[in-house]
Amino acid sequence: MQSVASAPGKAILFGEHAVVFGKPAIAFAVDKRATITIKKGNINNTNITTFESPILNLKAELDLIEGNIKLIKGHSGIVNYVLEAVLKRHDGSPIDIILDMEMPIGAGLGSSAAVAVATLAALENYHKRDIFVSKIAKMAHEIEIKVQGSASPLDTTISAFGGIIYLSENSEVISLKSDLEDSIVIGYTSSRGNTGEMVAGVIKRRDSNPKIMDLVIDSIGKITNEAKSLLNLNQLSNENMEALGELMNINHGLLDAIGVNTLELSDMVYIARKAGAIGSKITGAGGGGSMIALCTGDGNHVLAELRKKENAIKADFSKEGIIIHK
Ligand code: MEV
Repeated sequence: MQSVASAPGKAILFGEHAVVFGKPAIAFAVDKRATITIKKGNINNTNITTFESPILNLKAELDLIEGNIKLIKGHSGIVNYVLEAVLKRHDGSPIDIILDMEMPIGAGLGSSAAVAVATLAALENYHKRDIFVSKIAKMAHEIEIKVQGSASPLDTTISAFGGIIYLSENSEVISLKSDLEDSIVIGYTSSRGNTGEMVAGVIKRRDSNPKIMDLVIDSIGKITNEAKSLLNLNQLSNENMEALGELMNINHGLLDAIGVNTLELSDMVYIARKAGAIGSKITGAGGGGSMIALCTGDGNHVLAELRKKENAIKADFSKEGIIIHK
Protein backbone atom coordinates (compact mmCIF):
# COMPACT_ATOMS: atom_id res chain seq x y z
CA MET A 1 0.00 0.00 0.00
CA GLN A 2 1.35 3.38 -1.01
CA SER A 3 -0.27 6.77 -0.48
CA VAL A 4 0.77 9.90 -2.37
CA ALA A 5 -0.62 13.39 -1.73
CA SER A 6 0.56 16.86 -2.66
CA ALA A 7 -0.25 20.43 -1.67
CA PRO A 8 0.79 23.74 -3.23
CA GLY A 9 2.85 26.60 -1.92
CA LYS A 10 1.37 30.06 -1.89
CA ALA A 11 2.13 33.69 -2.39
CA ILE A 12 0.48 36.37 -0.30
CA LEU A 13 -0.82 39.32 -2.29
CA PHE A 14 -2.08 41.42 0.60
CA GLY A 15 -2.28 41.37 4.37
CA GLU A 16 0.71 39.36 5.66
CA HIS A 17 1.49 40.10 9.32
CA ALA A 18 -1.77 42.07 9.74
CA VAL A 19 -3.52 38.69 9.45
CA VAL A 20 -1.81 37.62 12.69
CA PHE A 21 -3.73 40.50 14.36
CA GLY A 22 -7.07 39.29 12.95
CA LYS A 23 -7.08 41.39 9.77
CA PRO A 24 -8.07 39.89 6.40
CA ALA A 25 -5.54 38.67 3.85
CA ILE A 26 -5.45 37.57 0.21
CA ALA A 27 -3.22 34.79 -1.09
CA PHE A 28 -3.09 32.48 -4.06
CA ALA A 29 -1.78 28.96 -4.57
CA VAL A 30 1.26 28.69 -6.84
CA ASP A 31 2.00 25.69 -9.03
CA LYS A 32 4.94 24.58 -6.89
CA ARG A 33 4.09 21.59 -4.71
CA ALA A 34 5.19 19.53 -1.72
CA THR A 35 4.53 15.85 -2.43
CA ILE A 36 4.46 13.22 0.30
CA THR A 37 4.67 9.50 -0.38
CA ILE A 38 3.90 7.07 2.45
CA LYS A 39 4.90 3.42 2.16
CA LYS A 40 4.57 0.53 4.56
CA GLY A 41 7.80 0.37 6.59
CA ASN A 42 9.96 -2.36 8.12
CA ILE A 43 7.80 -4.60 10.32
CA ASN A 44 10.30 -4.32 13.23
CA ASN A 45 9.98 -0.55 13.33
CA THR A 46 6.75 -0.09 15.30
CA ASN A 47 6.48 3.51 16.48
CA ILE A 48 9.41 4.55 14.30
CA THR A 49 8.68 6.41 11.07
CA THR A 50 11.52 6.87 8.62
CA PHE A 51 11.66 10.15 6.75
CA GLU A 52 13.66 11.01 3.67
CA SER A 53 13.82 13.88 1.21
CA PRO A 54 16.52 13.28 -1.42
CA ILE A 55 15.90 16.68 -3.03
CA LEU A 56 16.47 18.48 0.30
CA ASN A 57 19.30 16.14 1.31
CA LEU A 58 17.40 15.15 4.44
CA LYS A 59 17.13 11.87 6.29
CA ALA A 60 15.68 11.22 9.75
CA GLU A 61 13.90 8.80 12.03
CA LEU A 62 10.81 9.97 13.88
CA ASP A 63 10.35 8.38 17.30
CA LEU A 64 6.61 8.42 17.93
CA ILE A 65 6.87 7.36 21.60
CA GLU A 66 9.35 10.09 22.57
CA GLY A 67 7.91 12.48 19.96
CA ASN A 68 11.35 13.44 18.69
CA ILE A 69 13.50 13.46 15.57
CA LYS A 70 16.74 11.55 15.17
CA LEU A 71 18.43 13.41 12.36
CA ILE A 72 20.63 11.34 10.08
CA LYS A 73 21.31 13.97 7.40
CA GLY A 74 20.43 17.66 6.93
CA HIS A 75 18.53 20.13 9.16
CA SER A 76 15.46 19.27 11.17
CA GLY A 77 13.38 22.44 10.34
CA ILE A 78 10.83 21.06 7.92
CA VAL A 79 10.90 17.57 9.52
CA ASN A 80 9.18 19.00 12.60
CA TYR A 81 6.01 19.59 10.55
CA VAL A 82 6.07 15.99 9.33
CA LEU A 83 6.61 14.68 12.88
CA GLU A 84 3.67 16.68 14.25
CA ALA A 85 1.39 15.46 11.45
CA VAL A 86 2.40 11.84 12.10
CA LEU A 87 1.88 12.24 15.86
CA LYS A 88 -1.59 13.66 15.16
CA ARG A 89 -2.91 11.19 12.58
CA HIS A 90 -0.88 7.97 12.63
CA ASP A 91 -1.29 4.82 14.73
CA GLY A 92 2.42 4.00 15.09
CA SER A 93 2.56 1.17 12.55
CA PRO A 94 5.86 1.21 10.60
CA ILE A 95 5.82 3.64 7.67
CA ASP A 96 8.40 5.31 5.44
CA ILE A 97 7.74 8.90 4.37
CA ILE A 98 9.35 10.53 1.34
CA LEU A 99 9.09 14.26 0.62
CA ASP A 100 9.56 15.81 -2.79
CA MET A 101 9.62 19.57 -2.95
CA GLU A 102 9.26 21.96 -5.89
CA MET A 103 9.74 25.15 -3.88
CA PRO A 104 12.57 26.58 -1.81
CA ILE A 105 12.23 26.32 1.98
CA GLY A 106 11.87 29.53 3.97
CA ALA A 107 11.48 31.76 0.91
CA GLY A 108 7.99 32.95 1.83
CA LEU A 109 6.21 30.46 -0.40
CA GLY A 110 4.51 28.57 2.42
CA SER A 111 6.73 25.49 2.22
CA SER A 112 6.07 24.42 5.82
CA ALA A 113 2.30 24.73 5.41
CA ALA A 114 2.45 22.75 2.15
CA VAL A 115 4.45 19.99 3.87
CA ALA A 116 2.06 19.86 6.84
CA VAL A 117 -1.01 19.76 4.57
CA ALA A 118 0.47 17.15 2.19
CA THR A 119 1.58 14.91 5.08
CA LEU A 120 -1.85 15.03 6.72
CA ALA A 121 -3.60 14.35 3.40
CA ALA A 122 -1.28 11.41 2.63
CA LEU A 123 -1.91 9.99 6.13
CA GLU A 124 -5.71 10.31 5.78
CA ASN A 125 -5.47 8.50 2.44
CA TYR A 126 -3.06 5.84 3.81
CA HIS A 127 -5.55 5.03 6.59
CA LYS A 128 -8.46 5.10 4.09
CA ARG A 129 -10.18 7.92 5.93
CA ASP A 130 -12.32 10.44 4.03
CA ILE A 131 -10.50 13.61 3.02
CA PHE A 132 -12.11 16.68 4.57
CA VAL A 133 -10.16 19.65 3.23
CA SER A 134 -11.24 22.10 5.94
CA LYS A 135 -10.34 19.58 8.65
CA ILE A 136 -6.87 19.11 7.15
CA ALA A 137 -6.44 22.91 6.90
CA LYS A 138 -7.36 23.24 10.58
CA MET A 139 -5.01 20.46 11.73
CA ALA A 140 -2.16 21.88 9.62
CA HIS A 141 -2.72 25.28 11.22
CA GLU A 142 -2.47 23.67 14.68
CA ILE A 143 0.82 22.10 13.57
CA GLU A 144 2.18 25.47 12.42
CA ILE A 145 1.29 27.03 15.78
CA LYS A 146 2.94 24.14 17.65
CA VAL A 147 6.15 24.30 15.59
CA GLN A 148 6.43 28.08 15.06
CA GLY A 149 4.82 29.42 18.22
CA SER A 150 2.31 31.54 16.30
CA ALA A 151 0.81 31.49 12.81
CA SER A 152 -2.33 32.70 11.10
CA PRO A 153 -4.43 30.10 9.24
CA LEU A 154 -3.55 31.77 5.92
CA ASP A 155 -0.76 29.55 4.59
CA THR A 156 -2.41 26.29 5.59
CA THR A 157 -5.82 27.38 4.25
CA ILE A 158 -4.52 28.36 0.83
CA SER A 159 -2.38 25.23 0.58
CA ALA A 160 -5.34 22.98 1.38
CA PHE A 161 -7.93 24.74 -0.83
CA GLY A 162 -5.85 26.18 -3.70
CA GLY A 163 -7.08 29.04 -5.92
CA ILE A 164 -7.11 32.65 -4.82
CA ILE A 165 -8.50 33.15 -1.37
CA TYR A 166 -9.66 35.99 0.83
CA LEU A 167 -9.38 35.06 4.49
CA SER A 168 -11.84 37.28 6.35
CA GLU A 169 -11.41 38.80 9.81
CA ASN A 170 -13.38 35.82 11.18
CA SER A 171 -11.20 33.34 9.31
CA GLU A 172 -13.94 32.73 6.77
CA VAL A 173 -12.49 31.39 3.52
CA ILE A 174 -13.83 33.13 0.41
CA SER A 175 -12.67 32.14 -3.10
CA LEU A 176 -12.12 35.14 -5.35
CA LYS A 177 -13.04 35.01 -9.03
CA SER A 178 -10.03 36.62 -10.64
CA ASP A 179 -7.46 34.67 -12.63
CA LEU A 180 -3.97 36.09 -12.16
CA GLU A 181 -2.29 33.93 -14.76
CA ASP A 182 0.94 35.19 -16.32
CA SER A 183 1.09 38.44 -14.44
CA ILE A 184 3.01 37.58 -11.28
CA VAL A 185 6.78 37.36 -10.82
CA ILE A 186 8.34 36.30 -7.51
CA GLY A 187 11.90 37.26 -6.62
CA TYR A 188 13.84 35.46 -3.89
CA THR A 189 16.62 36.99 -1.87
CA SER A 190 19.49 34.69 -0.96
CA SER A 191 18.84 35.17 2.78
CA ARG A 192 15.97 33.29 4.37
CA GLY A 193 13.57 34.90 6.84
CA ASN A 194 12.34 32.98 9.88
CA THR A 195 8.53 33.33 9.99
CA GLY A 196 8.24 32.68 13.74
CA GLU A 197 10.89 35.29 14.54
CA MET A 198 9.47 37.85 12.11
CA VAL A 199 5.96 37.46 13.54
CA ALA A 200 7.32 37.73 17.11
CA GLY A 201 9.24 40.89 16.13
CA VAL A 202 6.11 42.58 14.78
CA ILE A 203 4.12 41.61 17.89
CA LYS A 204 6.87 43.11 20.05
CA ARG A 205 6.96 46.36 18.07
CA ARG A 206 3.18 46.55 18.19
CA ASP A 207 3.19 46.09 21.96
CA SER A 208 5.72 48.87 22.47
CA ASN A 209 3.88 51.31 20.17
CA PRO A 210 0.25 50.18 20.08
CA LYS A 211 -1.35 53.52 19.16
CA ILE A 212 0.75 53.90 16.02
CA MET A 213 1.17 50.26 15.05
CA ASP A 214 -2.56 49.57 15.32
CA LEU A 215 -3.23 52.30 12.76
CA VAL A 216 -0.70 50.75 10.39
CA ILE A 217 -2.14 47.26 10.88
CA ASP A 218 -5.70 48.60 10.35
CA SER A 219 -4.58 50.31 7.14
CA ILE A 220 -3.16 47.05 5.82
CA GLY A 221 -6.57 45.48 6.53
CA LYS A 222 -8.30 48.27 4.58
CA ILE A 223 -5.95 47.81 1.62
CA THR A 224 -6.79 44.10 1.57
CA ASN A 225 -10.51 44.86 1.49
CA GLU A 226 -10.05 47.30 -1.42
CA ALA A 227 -8.07 44.65 -3.28
CA LYS A 228 -10.76 42.06 -2.61
CA SER A 229 -13.34 44.07 -4.58
CA LEU A 230 -10.97 44.26 -7.54
CA LEU A 231 -9.99 40.60 -7.42
CA ASN A 232 -13.60 39.54 -7.34
CA LEU A 233 -14.15 40.92 -10.84
CA ASN A 234 -14.27 38.33 -13.62
CA GLN A 235 -11.99 40.40 -15.81
CA LEU A 236 -9.57 43.07 -14.62
CA SER A 237 -9.34 46.15 -16.87
CA ASN A 238 -6.03 48.02 -17.23
CA GLU A 239 -7.40 50.55 -14.80
CA ASN A 240 -8.22 47.82 -12.27
CA MET A 241 -4.71 46.39 -12.63
CA GLU A 242 -3.17 49.82 -12.03
CA ALA A 243 -5.31 50.20 -8.92
CA LEU A 244 -4.24 46.77 -7.68
CA GLY A 245 -0.58 47.64 -8.29
CA GLU A 246 -0.97 50.88 -6.38
CA LEU A 247 -2.45 49.00 -3.42
CA MET A 248 0.54 46.62 -3.48
CA ASN A 249 2.94 49.56 -3.39
CA ILE A 250 1.13 51.12 -0.42
CA ASN A 251 1.06 47.73 1.35
CA HIS A 252 4.81 47.43 0.82
CA GLY A 253 5.40 50.82 2.44
CA LEU A 254 3.41 49.70 5.47
CA LEU A 255 5.34 46.42 5.70
CA ASP A 256 8.47 48.54 5.78
CA ALA A 257 6.89 50.56 8.60
CA ILE A 258 6.28 47.46 10.73
CA GLY A 259 9.91 46.44 10.36
CA VAL A 260 9.95 43.39 8.07
CA ASN A 261 11.78 44.88 5.09
CA THR A 262 15.45 44.30 4.25
CA LEU A 263 17.85 46.14 1.98
CA GLU A 264 17.83 43.26 -0.52
CA LEU A 265 14.03 43.02 -0.61
CA SER A 266 13.75 46.76 -0.98
CA ASP A 267 16.19 46.76 -3.90
CA MET A 268 14.21 44.04 -5.66
CA VAL A 269 10.90 45.78 -5.08
CA TYR A 270 12.23 48.92 -6.76
CA ILE A 271 14.05 47.04 -9.53
CA ALA A 272 10.72 45.41 -10.42
CA ARG A 273 8.89 48.74 -10.52
CA LYS A 274 11.63 50.30 -12.65
CA ALA A 275 11.39 47.34 -15.04
CA GLY A 276 7.69 48.03 -15.55
CA ALA A 277 5.86 46.16 -12.78
CA ILE A 278 2.66 47.99 -11.91
CA GLY A 279 3.02 47.02 -8.28
CA SER A 280 5.54 45.21 -6.10
CA LYS A 281 5.91 44.33 -2.46
CA ILE A 282 7.33 41.87 0.03
CA THR A 283 5.38 38.63 0.09
CA GLY A 284 5.25 36.50 3.23
CA ALA A 285 7.07 37.10 6.46
CA GLY A 286 9.92 39.31 5.15
CA GLY A 287 13.31 39.63 6.85
CA GLY A 288 14.71 37.90 3.74
CA GLY A 289 12.58 35.58 1.67
CA SER A 290 10.60 36.87 -1.28
CA MET A 291 8.98 39.80 -3.03
CA ILE A 292 6.20 39.76 -5.57
CA ALA A 293 5.61 41.88 -8.65
CA LEU A 294 2.38 42.37 -10.58
CA CYS A 295 3.04 42.84 -14.28
CA THR A 296 0.95 43.58 -17.33
CA GLY A 297 1.77 41.27 -20.21
CA ASP A 298 4.09 38.31 -19.70
CA GLY A 299 6.34 39.89 -17.04
CA ASN A 300 9.47 38.63 -18.84
CA HIS A 301 11.32 41.94 -18.59
CA VAL A 302 10.69 42.18 -14.84
CA LEU A 303 11.81 38.55 -14.49
CA ALA A 304 15.05 39.24 -16.40
CA GLU A 305 15.86 42.39 -14.41
CA LEU A 306 15.26 40.64 -11.07
CA ARG A 307 17.44 37.73 -12.14
CA LYS A 308 20.36 40.11 -12.64
CA LYS A 309 20.18 40.73 -8.90
CA GLU A 310 18.82 37.49 -7.34
CA ASN A 311 16.69 34.51 -8.26
CA ALA A 312 13.18 34.94 -9.66
CA ILE A 313 10.39 32.83 -11.12
CA LYS A 314 7.04 33.28 -12.78
CA ALA A 315 4.45 32.27 -10.20
CA ASP A 316 1.77 30.48 -12.10
CA PHE A 317 -1.50 30.40 -10.33
CA SER A 318 -2.84 26.98 -9.27
CA LYS A 319 -6.55 26.27 -8.92
CA GLU A 320 -5.83 23.02 -7.10
CA GLY A 321 -5.18 22.62 -3.39
CA ILE A 322 -4.70 19.09 -2.01
CA ILE A 323 -4.33 16.39 -4.65
CA ILE A 324 -4.48 12.69 -3.82
CA HIS A 325 -2.42 10.98 -6.51
CA LYS A 326 -3.80 7.64 -7.61
C1 MEV B 1 3.79 34.18 6.46
O1 MEV B 1 3.71 33.52 5.21
C2 MEV B 1 2.63 35.10 6.64
C3 MEV B 1 2.60 35.83 7.99
O2 MEV B 1 1.45 36.67 7.95
C4 MEV B 1 2.52 34.88 9.13
C5 MEV B 1 1.21 34.14 9.18
O3 MEV B 1 0.24 34.54 8.54
O4 MEV B 1 1.17 33.15 9.92
C6 MEV B 1 3.81 36.72 8.17
